Amino acid sequence: MSTDILELLNSPEMTKVCAPMVRYSKLAFRTLVRRYNCDVCFTPMIVADSFVKAKEARDNEFSTNVGDKPLIVQFAAKNPDEFADAAELVAPYCNGVDLNCGCPQSWVMSDGYGARLLENPQLVKDLVLQVRNRIPAPFTVSVKIRLLNDVKKSVNFCRTMEQAGVSFLTVHARTPQMRKEPINMEGLKLIRDCVDVPLIANGNVRSLEDAEALHKESKCQGVMVASAMLKNPAIFSGAPVTPLSCVQDWLDISSAIPTKFLVMYQHLVFMLEKILPYEERLVFNVLKDSQSVYDFIESYYNLKPRARSDLDFIKPIDCDYYVKNFDKKRKSLDVLMDDPDTNESFFSGFFN
Ligand SMILES: Cc1cc2nc3c(=O)[nH]c(=O)nc-3n(C[C@H](O)[C@H](O)[C@H](O)COP(=O)(O)O)c2cc1C
Repeated sequence: MSTDILELLNSPEMTKVCAPMVRYSKLAFRTLVRRYNCDVCFTPMIVADSFVKAKEARDNEFSTNVGDKPLIVQFAAKNPDEFADAAELVAPYCNGVDLNCGCPQSWVMSDGYGARLLENPQLVKDLVLQVRNRIPAPFTVSVKIRLLNDVKKSVNFCRTMEQAGVSFLTVHARTPQMRKEPINMEGLKLIRDCVDVPLIANGNVRSLEDAEALHKESKCQGVMVASAMLKNPAIFSGAPVTPLSCVQDWLDISSAIPTKFLVMYQHLVFMLEKILPYEERLVFNVLKDSQSVYDFIESYYNLKPRARSDLDFIKPIDCDYYVKNFDKKRKSLDVLMDDPDTNESFFSGFFN
């Protein structure tokens, strides 16, 4: 399968995408969903500022393996240089970076990140431009948005991103105030009609059939799933609920790739939600340590983690970040933006 994300998005088939999910869309989970027909994965949102400044943040927040492709690393950023610095650091290990412009959580919004950026398209344009200026295609730079109450403003936002040279956009077709209600399909379709870049549609997909219906109706090239993917990581393979093979794979993969107990366990809680009977769930969902979790799974499903030679290649690779003095490399974006000739030339280098 191609690792060129734009090639995938431009093919007639629906591109199946695992959403960025804080805590959850980490390497072990990405390795799992890729076995079940997922085409593209996003990392959880990583704060660009800490990623650039601290080795500890880089080691904690990001890991990958040779099969972890195509991969988009999502950042929270509000400063063009920070976003581009973070992008340069991860570029050798991924296929693109994404800017989170959709998170409605209060700490994210009050720090000026996430959905707060929807109010400032010019700043987001600068963020995108700075990455595009420093890293050429086919490396992608993308933005994930939520809808604004006034969908026309969302259309303008997306057009501004298009002018900045964004590779594609992901539209979570709910406003920051909406929670689990159905998406605003009309708003999504309006954006589809008004921009040319590939779009990934997101929101409220519960099955492969839902994904296919959304792909067909919205005419977006890709479909992204979050919550339903936690409950059934095999969703894109068409399985209606988590198959036991997927539970087995999770036990094996989360043993081979360092995974914190709580994360390993919480994934099992999600995966078993639809397949474990209520009474058993009451017991399973209050277990306290890995041994009791493994004992439960073995006694109920006769499954236990296995060392598998076919999983040797999934071990995380060493990420040897090239941390340089970014300040020296910073170009004045203001100058570039104000001078149409300069703009021409710096774009032409990347789109040939
Ligand atoms: C546990 C969890 C963590 C999430 N973390 C992120 C994140 O890091 N970045 C982001 O852009 N969206 C994040 N989201 C939002 C999802 O990517 C997605 O846009 C949203 O859940 C709607 O998709 P769904 O209806 O398929 O769940 C998260 C969602 C969940 C459920």
